[in-house]
Amino acid sequence: MTTVLLTGAAGYIASHTWLALQRAGYRVVGVDNFANSSPVVLERLAELASAPIEFERADVCDSAMLDEVFVSYRPAAVVHFAAYKAVGESVSQPLAYYRNNLGGLVNTCEAMKRHGCLRMVFSSSATVYGAPEQLPLREDAPTSATNPYGATKLMGEQILRDLGVADPAWQTACLRYFNPVGAHESGRIGEDPRGTPNNLMPYVAQVAVGRRDKLSVFGSDYPTPDGTGVRDYIHVTDLAEGHVAALRRLLDTPGSLTVNLGTGRGYSVLELVRAYEAASGRNVPYELVARRPGDVAACFADPALARELLGWEARLDLARMCEDSWRWQQLNPHGFN
Ligand code: NAD
Ligand code: WQD
Repeated sequence: MTTVLLTGAAGYIASHTWLALQRAGYRVVGVDNFANSSPVVLERLAELASAPIEFERADVCDSAMLDEVFVSYRPAAVVHFAAYKAVGESVSQPLAYYRNNLGGLVNTCEAMKRHGCLRMVFSSSATVYGAPEQLPLREDAPTSATNPYGATKLMGEQILRDLGVADPAWQTACLRYFNPVGAHESGRIGEDPRGTPNNLMPYVAQVAVGRRDKLSVFGSDYPTPDGTGVRDYIHVTDLAEGHVAALRRLLDTPGSLTVNLGTGRGYSVLELVRAYEAASGRNVPYELVARRPGDVAACFADPALARELLGWEARLDLARMCEDSWRWQQLNPHGFN
């Protein structure tokens, strides 16, 4: 059985990917330092997998801990999720982001090299496209960083490309996620942001459940059909399957790749609000306010390359994203705690 190491394993996207990898027949071992997650996730994963799970509490910046994990489990590949991800926080605390996201990546790659494990699937982001000049976004579109978080993803991709140049035995898959939303269909795991949610769907979910009074819609004068921002929302379960497909490709086929994981379809903020109201049967009061600095009008993927290289495409629609988010929100009104 092929063993896969997940870093940041207790996080939102990793926890869903964990289940998808197990279902696909991989042995999964997870590490996380719980910087932005709860150990309760592990209990839920064991329950959903109907089996004990293998996990070590470790910081990916800690080489000695990583060595122990590699010696104990001998993974054939790493799926590297561990990172900080709040754009605004990255502007106020750039050093913490560079240390954790880039230091953690370099450290993980060094441990991989020491232990002869040269395959990595890396969590990149559509944020690397900066302000898109043309839509839909193809992988060969220009890239740029508009904040330190985005810079860590751009640089992370560069580090992996450089590794492949230095030693073609390295095989890496940079997956550029668009806007991951939704939750596992069981309602047992999902996104559990700390404090005020930065992202749209978790905020809408908290308004629908009554934890917050109303949504602030950031900008209603964008050059989009209804004036609000348009994004490519992708169900986290589809995203998880994208990782399985990428890993399979690295194990089966020589070479490295960089692909978008999106649906190819954009929805506006108001369309998402309406879909959420329909899925939840609740009102989502909102007010139109000023644009959020740094936001772009519209962003959505050309998903053709992922289909071609990975045989993967997103299946679940916006209604399903909202239904699954709502089930998670209702069953866990205060997240994991
Ligand atoms: P998340 O915060 O839920 O998951 C990240 C996990 O990494 C957390 O469990 C956290 O505790 C852990 N972690 C952070 N630093 C660590 C360290 N030094 N050592 C060990 N564990 C550490 O975030 P997520 O939304 O699941 O994102 C996963 C990855 O996908 C991140 O790399 C993120 O940048 C990327 N990404 C996320 C989105 C999104 O909108 N959610 C979009 C594009 C890319
Ligand atoms: C979506 C739309 C907002 C909140 C961010 C990161 C990106 C990636 C995904 C990691 C926009 C609007 C939002 C609110 C609103 N993460 N909005 N009211 O900005 O596309 O991407 O998460 O890699 O790097 O920047 O996602 O969910 O924050 O916003 O009106 O309270 O919802 O203006 O149009 P975004 P988002």
